[in-house]
Amino acid sequence: MSISANEPGQGGGTTARPASAGRSPSGQEGLLAVAAGLVARGKGILAADETVPTLTRRFEALGIPSTQDSRRAYREMLFTAPAAADVISGVILQDETIRQSASSGVPFPQLLAAQGIVPGIKVDTGAKPLAGWPGETVTEGLDGLRDRLAEYRGLGAHFAKWRAVIRIGDGRPSRACVEANAHALARYAALCQEQNLVPIVEPEVLMDGAHGIGTCEDVTDAVLAAVFRALHEQGVVLEAMLLKPNMIVPGEDCPEPAAIHEVAAATLRCLRRQVPAAVPGIIFLSGGQDARLATAHLNEINRLPGAKPWTISFSYGRALQDAALTAWGGLDENLPSGREALALRARCNGAASLGAYSDEMEQARPNAAQHRHDH
Ligand code: 13P
Repeated sequence: MSISANEPGQGGGTTARPASAGRSPSGQEGLLAVAAGLVARGKGILAADETVPTLTRRFEALGIPSTQDSRRAYREMLFTAPAAADVISGVILQDETIRQSASSGVPFPQLLAAQGIVPGIKVDTGAKPLAGWPGETVTEGLDGLRDRLAEYRGLGAHFAKWRAVIRIGDGRPSRACVEANAHALARYAALCQEQNLVPIVEPEVLMDGAHGIGTCEDVTDAVLAAVFRALHEQGVVLEAMLLKPNMIVPGEDCPEPAAIHEVAAATLRCLRRQVPAAVPGIIFLSGGQDARLATAHLNEINRLPGAKPWTISFSYGRALQDAALTAWGGLDENLPSGREALALRARCNGAASLGAYSDEMEQARPNAAQHRHDH
């Protein structure tokens, strides 16, 4: 039996598909509006979807006990940062957090929605060893995903996230790893759109290693090409998704640092080659970059001349949260400083999404109105 990949299909494609499936954005108005809102001018996403083990590691590094309630209190601090809604369009939650509530009793998804912030949800179940390919992983979570998506939609989520992890070094990544992860990302994205959630497609090429910036560009180029091929094959509507890629940076152990301009130019070049103009937004992960550098890179990318058919913004985890977590340190009396630390990074990145960030913003004091949650 031959594979049907070369049969004539709908719309001149190469794969037969039912009339209801397709790449047309018509009938997807709700998803298009959510995607557009997530990349509204000057705004970006807060990734607060660390799993319990990951957040526990971050807490323990600072001597903060990790309990259901300490994690809840930390997330409440983030979600009530002053003027967050001015620059945060959406927050990515995870399974524990989407079911938790603020101390007032208001469930987190509603707390966010009341501020005009769109709740989202991490739905992959993690990167697991890829059989036959030592040192590589494939992200799992497709089994039962349709039902989980429906449940999360019921809990108030309007978008979702799935992170694939690609490691560079010793001949890696293999084609097997890139294709397996691209396929899973595309299956996830198609299921999200079926269930009325905007998929954030996150193929992360890790910074771990001593490779140079050129290797990161080559690998990211190949990964994004595979991801968009897979998205096309699965009939994902590009207009109703967002891409969350890494920036093009040297490995963290690379002896040759790259200038901000070099990172920005390589990143934009790679994206222009690989990301179709139909995708409404590209929202970067921070990937372990220094927080201020992640802001400076985003700013420079947005300042570069030339065509940028997508909105370019942020969906940072560590680069938004690290300063806030440290300022809080697990103590109630530090909640206002924790909120302010998050708000500062959010404001700086909001400005960077417009190419309007400057070093002076790092010193700027919040105005009185921004203290409203502290009193
Ligand atoms: P970082 O910005 O810390 O890389 O986290 C973003 C994210 O969502 C990783 O999946």
